[in-house]
Amino acid sequence: MNRLALSLLIASAFATPAAFAQTTGKVKVGLMLPATGTFAALGTAVENGFRLYIQEQGGKLAGREIEFVKVDDESDPAKATDNVNKLIKRDNVDVLVGTVHSGVAMAMARVAKATGTLLIVPNAGADAVTGAMCAPNIFRSSFSNWQPGYAMGEAMAQKGHKKVVTITWKYAAGDESVNGFKEAFEKKGGKVVKELTLPFPNVEFQALLTEIASTKPDAVYTFFAGGGAVKFVKDYAAAGLNKSIPLYGAGFLTDGTLEAQGADAEGLMTTLHYADGLNTPRDQSFRLAYAKAFKLQPDVYAVQGYDAAQILAAGMNAVKGDLGKKTEFTEAVRKAKIDSPRGVFTMSKSHNPVQDIYLRQVGSKENKVISVASKALVDPGRGCRM
Ligand code: BEZ
Repeated sequence: MNRLALSLLIASAFATPAAFAQTTGKVKVGLMLPATGTFAALGTAVENGFRLYIQEQGGKLAGREIEFVKVDDESDPAKATDNVNKLIKRDNVDVLVGTVHSGVAMAMARVAKATGTLLIVPNAGADAVTGAMCAPNIFRSSFSNWQPGYAMGEAMAQKGHKKVVTITWKYAAGDESVNGFKEAFEKKGGKVVKELTLPFPNVEFQALLTEIASTKPDAVYTFFAGGGAVKFVKDYAAAGLNKSIPLYGAGFLTDGTLEAQGADAEGLMTTLHYADGLNTPRDQSFRLAYAKAFKLQPDVYAVQGYDAAQILAAGMNAVKGDLGKKTEFTEAVRKAKIDSPRGVFTMSKSHNPVQDIYLRQVGSKENKVISVASKALVDPGRGCRM
């Protein structure tokens, strides 16, 4: 054997196992979601949706079996960096999927960016994740906090409201949802006269409701979700405010919460990238499959989990399961048309869904679609450079 043949043989002996490891064997998905606290139900719905899509593909993507490792992030930003490092360093996950809370998601994005680990965000809307923190390996299947807020700003101005009070939790999601709302509402001539906040995840609303009553705005815009949204809607009605000051919100106010809110939610109008009654074949088949698998109706969080798995599939199919082909993976997801139950969406330059935002109204325990409030709304991706 000549020297060239020998060195090729040695090189291939070293190259084969590495290449082999990238394209076959299990893919470890690290699910970092809340299993406890005010967002626990949201985490379960995201996980259900993700698992449903994988099940529909026979448990495999691009021929590789999908294995799960889970961490309860408790929606606690203080524990987030440790939690994500556990998944990367201890569990050696190939892909991170998480999470619900914006503050936790920003910590995940920081670590994902520094380590180059693929991250798909299935809910948290933190604007920075697809803004200043954007990266080729970070994608979102959900929304930016700006998106539903901006759409509602336009919708409420169009309804003729002029003077609005906002109320939310004091953290990234609340602040950014209100900022998006204010940007559109004030551009159209409205005025936000008071911005009320309380710390996340507090639900002691009474003093703030009294302040709303004494301010007498035309309407109220709010961001709450999960258990906090249930309590806010019930307290708003118990204070009698629903009779005099119309309440609006980003759609999380009434998504996955209607059973618990009961009659107190009837008539509420919200904006979101999903709704009941879309009546498309794609949404109907998703709803049937979800109800069959989990004995539950899906909500927006389930859709976002399902679509996070679709994003992973789009990338993995393009690289034939070789997650080492990072550039090709990114290019494929950038070009993908994700066939979501919400309607087809594409990725913006900063990897956030470009999607229709629906105006919905609660009736008979459903978030019924009224119209498209903003067609193909693109998050501005402020500060994103890649
Ligand atoms: C967030 O923290 O980004 C968030 C949490 C729940 C629902 C929507 C957004």
